[in-house]
Amino acid sequence: KTRVFSGMQPSGELHLGNYVGALQHWVARQDESDNIFCIVDLHALTIPEQIDARALHDNARKLAALYLASGLDPERNLIFIQSHVREHSELAWILNCATPLGWLQRMTQFKSKAQQFESTGTGLLIYPALQAADILLYDTDAVPVGEDQRQHIELTRDIAIRFHRLFGEVFKLPVAVIPEVGARVMGLDDPETKMSKSLAVTRPGHAINLLDDEKTIRKAIMSAVTDSGRETRFAHASPGVRNLLSIYQALTREPMSAVEATFAGQGYGALKKALVEVVWETLRPLQARYHEIMADRAGLEAVLTRGAERAREIASATMQRVRDATGVG
Ligand code: TYM
Repeated sequence: KTRVFSGMQPSGELHLGNYVGALQHWVARQDESDNIFCIVDLHALTIPEQIDARALHDNARKLAALYLASGLDPERNLIFIQSHVREHSELAWILNCATPLGWLQRMTQFKSKAQQFESTGTGLLIYPALQAADILLYDTDAVPVGEDQRQHIELTRDIAIRFHRLFGEVFKLPVAVIPEVGARVMGLDDPETKMSKSLAVTRPGHAINLLDDEKTIRKAIMSAVTDSGRETRFAHASPGVRNLLSIYQALTREPMSAVEATFAGQGYGALKKALVEVVWETLRPLQARYHEIMADRAGLEAVLTRGAERAREIASATMQRVRDATGVG
């Protein structure tokens, strides 16, 4: 079976972009592959100014609950917290040593995040090597992610290839799997910028969080930026309308021709109203499950403990190959 690995940062709530670009697809294909889904808490430390220890600990559990509430079955998927498996940090160090500095400095996510903060921690720069470690530890074939992670998965391959040249073959080379629709959900308040967790904090109406109530969702969608026309054919629509059509398509899984036919000749109001319904139909049951899962904290902890044990078995075998190849250990 194909080995699938992916992860998300436990930095605040998930938004609709995370769901449409990644999580939804993990759930839909959970029977097709052998899956490992990680909660990458060490990655969340790369912006230490935003970290509160208690909140990070809680957010990791909440993210695990959101994975389960979205429909990931803990029996069929291995779910664990990154910091519970020490091999991630160990391999990240070794991969950093095999990664040219220029490769890391070229990453667009690094460049844009480094601009946002007064001082940039080294962790932000070497973050992709930790991501490469996450992926390479599990002999991963496929990494289902949104468009913004494509560059990091390509870098993971490059790092593995360079490691092989230096120390010999150890890793499998993974590929990114990026959905055709919804791989880059844009901000509702600004369709020129990607929907992001950090912008959502200061801009109400930018994102829809998975735990938002119906009223908040309605308000965000009804006031989403469109244009003064009534063009709902995807190819001719403005960025804001295209964003709404894409989200609608991703959630209903209808072909774009069917979506266009539904809204042909109607104003944007009809599209927005229909989208509110589709989003709420998706999130209402998800939220109900989330609250049930969070009410059984012991059950959730048990899933994570068992996940970490199984992950450690796989990771420690890979790490042994790395130690043998490099002469450490
Ligand atoms: P993160 O936590 O920023 O995002 C989690 C997932 O959501 C996708 N995503 C989006 N998709 C569509 N539209 C958007 N606006 C949008 N915003 C986010 C992301 O592409 C991602 O799939 N570095 C990673 C976490 C990570 C990881 C890994 C992923 C660490 N190790 C190993 C895969 C494999 C990140 O920060 O994702």
